[in-house]
Amino acid sequence: MLPPTLKDRSVCIVGLGYVGLTLAVAMADAGFRVHGVEVSDAVLAPLAQGRAHFVEVGLDHKLAEQVRLGRFTFGPALGEAAGATTYIVTVGTPVSDDKRVRFDSLEQVARGIAGVLRPDDMVILRSTVMVGTTRDFVKPILDAAGVPYALAFCPERTLEGRALAELKTLPQVVGGIDAESTFRASQLFSFLTPSVVRVNDSESAELVKLINNTQRDYTFALANEVAAICDHLGLSAAEVIASGNLGYARANLPMPGPVGGPCLEKDPYILAQSLEGAGFTPALAVAARRWNEGLPERTVELVARALAERGADAGTVAVLGLAFKGRPETGDLRGTLAKPLVDGLRRRWPAARLVGWDPVVDADGIASLGLEPRLSAQAAFAGADAVVIQNNHEAFAKMDLAALTAGMRSPGVVYDLWSQHDPRALRLAPGVTYHALGAFGLHAAAVAAEAA
Ligand SMILES: NC(=O)c1ccc[n+]([C@@H]2O[C@H](COP(=O)([O-])OP(=O)(O)OC[C@H]3O[C@@H](n4cnc5c(N)ncnc54)[C@H](O)[C@@H]3O)[C@@H](O)[C@H]2O)c1
Repeated sequence: MLPPTLKDRSVCIVGLGYVGLTLAVAMADAGFRVHGVEVSDAVLAPLAQGRAHFVEVGLDHKLAEQVRLGRFTFGPALGEAAGATTYIVTVGTPVSDDKRVRFDSLEQVARGIAGVLRPDDMVILRSTVMVGTTRDFVKPILDAAGVPYALAFCPERTLEGRALAELKTLPQVVGGIDAESTFRASQLFSFLTPSVVRVNDSESAELVKLINNTQRDYTFALANEVAAICDHLGLSAAEVIASGNLGYARANLPMPGPVGGPCLEKDPYILAQSLEGAGFTPALAVAARRWNEGLPERTVELVARALAERGADAGTVAVLGLAFKGRPETGDLRGTLAKPLVDGLRRRWPAARLVGWDPVVDADGIASLGLEPRLSAQAAFAGADAVVIQNNHEAFAKMDLAALTAGMRSPGVVYDLWSQHDPRALRLAPGVTYHALGAFGLHAAAVAAEAA
């Protein structure tokens, strides 16, 4: 599949998390010889049994195939990547509680690569980083090797749940520290995806990644502000947004709902940190993130109001849909707003029983959020005073709410953060009301009319 003259046929991917493992399998599938380096036993142990440590469509099948074909090998040490001419770095770059990016893994890996780098090797940084990291942080560490090498930043932009397909179709942005590095990294990715976008330098490539994610966060923040506006005006945000988008190409606002996950929870902050030295604060980026982060607290308030209006108590509250997103489905709990939501419910009702269910997340994951795990939607609804639907997994749109709410206490409240049911068409058990994010006032009016 790869031309025999291609220099970079053998690559070493350092960090086999969501990004590194999917890339490793996609590159092996494209004909590269891939060696993965990973320090965590929790990742290596399932890999040794031919499977990934996370849920990703099609990954386990392809992974087992590439291991069987001998194109993908893995282990804990960098020195085992014999023959690799390219190192691709995909370790995590999380932010700490103070929202500052942590570079400890990146630094450790850069030092490790400097120790094994041979003349004319290439290093590609793929983890999301502050602007300037490739040239000002990684390059000085690699320079200690004392050999010539190429260095580029090539961001990962796939969607969890569609990573394998998107690695082969999305344009790959490439920015090197010099023209030769850009050219060589572009050539490598041209064997993976049909479209490569070369930018002037590594800094531009770093910024592209941060801006892409910040834009997503902005648009979700606007949708969530429309939800708050509609809650106050007694209108339906779902209707306003869907109607405004319909046939009008200049509007493509998403539905409101919780947004987090391993990227959006941190990338706007990494953007802001990138600009500290330049004396500029990207105020909108930070405000959008904070507004999105405030949704769990606003939700607790509205659930409390809905319960109070119905004269109900929060003896048992069920939270459904715990992964950071429902579509495409994932079991990933990193950056999920279910966590601050559960914490907020606990603060509001210290004595309440908090239970949880998710179509993908296992019982241990559910318990890690501070919820009593339930094995089905039916078990989660049973005996609940309030049910909060946190993500948009397709299971929630298909739920038979008439049957499920029959197991709830009455009066009771269902609060849906993704407006997955049309309140006008819903039939619920007596005494149970359905509220959706961005339609609170509307519902209150309907309840008042029902009572009159
Ligand atoms: N998850 C996504 O969909 C996504 C998308 C775009 C960009 N990113 C970015 O890509 C990077 C990786 O994200 P992820 O979700 O794969 O993170 P992850 O935490 O799932 O994976 C990182 C892996 O690196 C390993 N690691 C840490 N130090 C190591 C070392 N010294 N040697 C070898 N392995 C080491 C960790 O054990 C872990 O398995 C982050 O910067 C993230 O922001 C992620």
